[in-house]
Amino acid sequence: MYTQLEQRGMAEPPVNISTLVRMKSERAPIVCLTAYDASFALLVDQAGADLVLVGDSLGMVIQGHDTTVPVTVDDMVYHTRVVARGVRRAFLVADMPFMSYSTEAQALDNAVRLMQEGGAMMVKLEGGAGQVRIVEHLARHDIPVCAHIGLKPQSVHKIGGFKVQGRNKERARQMVDDAVALEAAGADIVLLECVPNELGQAVTAAVDVPVIGIGAGPDVDGQILVLYDILGITRGRVPRFVENFMPGAESVPDAIERYVRAVRERTYPAPEHCFS
Ligand code: KIV
Repeated sequence: MYTQLEQRGMAEPPVNISTLVRMKSERAPIVCLTAYDASFALLVDQAGADLVLVGDSLGMVIQGHDTTVPVTVDDMVYHTRVVARGVRRAFLVADMPFMSYSTEAQALDNAVRLMQEGGAMMVKLEGGAGQVRIVEHLARHDIPVCAHIGLKPQSVHKIGGFKVQGRNKERARQMVDDAVALEAAGADIVLLECVPNELGQAVTAAVDVPVIGIGAGPDVDGQILVLYDILGITRGRVPRFVENFMPGAESVPDAIERYVRAVRERTYPAPEHCFS
């Protein structure tokens, strides 16, 4: 009865939440990437990524919006379902889009859709201490949760742009407290976006759950980037923490493998990708 989830005909067993916790304890970097369709999901999985995120960044890189705000639950369910067809080994996480988790009941309904209709193994939502009640509610129903703190792209209109967060001492302390509160509420992973290295290190040390960073420096438990950014497809202003792995690569799969290797070998992120 349990064999499908454990084997799926793979040489290596699929990644689950225990794998990620063990990697944190062994200080083995957790490699994560976004994907939005089955073909790229297969490439990312075959390159050896441990976690694939169907990010609501699809609103920007797939749909052409300026922000992630217009993305709907139906969009996320559709893209999660197609990505799930390409993923064999990696742990599959799906974003809960803007305003899809504003009440406990709404959050539960939408998380269930992402898992049952989309095939996600975990949902990700943005927010600090203000989301503790929602995270508790989902956790009480055995929904695995990734709590996204630091720069929260869904709040872009409230914070006035995509900016580095936690640069002052009080905000930094608040962010560490938020991570601890979210872990206590039942979050299984923390995703930390766009903060100084020192804060990435402090949040990672403060919680037992894995901390995945994007622009959070080298001292977190894992790294994630937007797939289109590492392939140099993204137009317009590219954040400092992005590296384009296409130059020097033989092909798209080779570029993805180079990213995976760079995270495993800790050559990414380099100082030029970091904030102080
Ligand atoms: O939506 C997304 O792709 C994300 C990443 C920025 C981590 O949340």
